[in-house]
Amino acid sequence: MLEGTQLTKDFRVRLGLFRGSATLRAVDDVSITIDAGETVALVGESGSGKSTLGRILLGLILQTSGAVHYRGTDFARLQGDAARQFRADVQAVFQDTSASLNPRRRVGESVIAPLLFNRRLSAAHARIESAQLLERVGLDPKIFASRFPHQLSGGQRQRVGLARALASQPRVIVADEPVSALDVSVRAQILKLMQDLQAQEKLAYLFITHDLGIARLIANRVMVMYLGAIVEEGNAADVFARPSHPYTLALTLSAPIPDPTRARPPRHLIGDIPSPLAPPPGCRFHPRCAFAQAICKTDAPPVREFENAHRSACHFAEQVRGG
Ligand SMILES: Nc1ncnc2c1ncn2[C@@H]1O[C@H](COP(=O)(O)OP(=O)(O)OP(=O)(O)O)[C@@H](O)[C@H]1O
Ligand SMILES: [Mg+2]
Repeated sequence: MLEGTQLTKDFRVRLGLFRGSATLRAVDDVSITIDAGETVALVGESGSGKSTLGRILLGLILQTSGAVHYRGTDFARLQGDAARQFRADVQAVFQDTSASLNPRRRVGESVIAPLLFNRRLSAAHARIESAQLLERVGLDPKIFASRFPHQLSGGQRQRVGLARALASQPRVIVADEPVSALDVSVRAQILKLMQDLQAQEKLAYLFITHDLGIARLIANRVMVMYLGAIVEEGNAADVFARPSHPYTLALTLSAPIPDPTRARPPRHLIGDIPSPLAPPPGCRFHPRCAFAQAICKTDAPPVREFENAHRSACHFAEQVRGG
């Protein structure tokens, strides 16, 4: 449905007064496919490039190289009706709803806008449907349609964000940390709502999160990103049962998944994430890796493939899988 091929994104960043600028590679040769109806979780620490990748797939920023295909057509070649269809079919939900909800617009108007412009409904029809959409996300339109975003709780705002996204009848929703700002009980409600909507609408999600527990809960497939690159990907069940990259293993240990059958030596992350302006040579994870050997400092690891297209970019993937 939505496919990114060998995507790279460079940003020019200023280093400060008189120090010129440098190139920061936020996304480095990433390929990703999102099939109809599935949930792909994109996980990784802050600064790993998750949002940048999401924004490229949404068409909000342009990649430096690589291509995005929607239903087999190069995104850059979509024009007219096809481009409009893409913008309706691929919707965004952000952590910070201020990016998607106009603070000066009432909730009802925010949900009506895509009905008028993307779906071209009549004003009367749009009004009825916007009320139905609010009901579907668990908000009483009589109470909420006339409110402004600042008069809502975080969870209610995220429900409005979902109603607004659904108004375009999307096929894919790119959700960037949609529940990260919410407290635990509200988080569970919104995740449940997203799962229900997915089942009803056959929606696909690209679910961006730094929280492995959430990925484990909702994802069919998981992609693990580190300093701009995918270091491991596979079916969620495979990735969580058998992390095959030391970075994933360390992440699962910092969000422990109880498994009494596997007594593991400590494999936690060492130190902080390096500057993306100067990624380490060889394997970019080697300075923080408990498995690193001499080769990791010089040679970028090839991608190794295990059962069910479970892939890991690690010289010692077998050892990692062995625990
Ligand atoms: N417009 C920009 N100009 C320069 N650098 C940028 C820009 N946008 C992102 N970056 C840099 O690209 C890298 C990846 O950022 P990105 O926001 O994609 O990370 P992320 O994985 O979403 O992090 P977080 O979990 O904190 O949201 C970071 O080093 C960031 O500083
Ligand atoms: Mg982000």
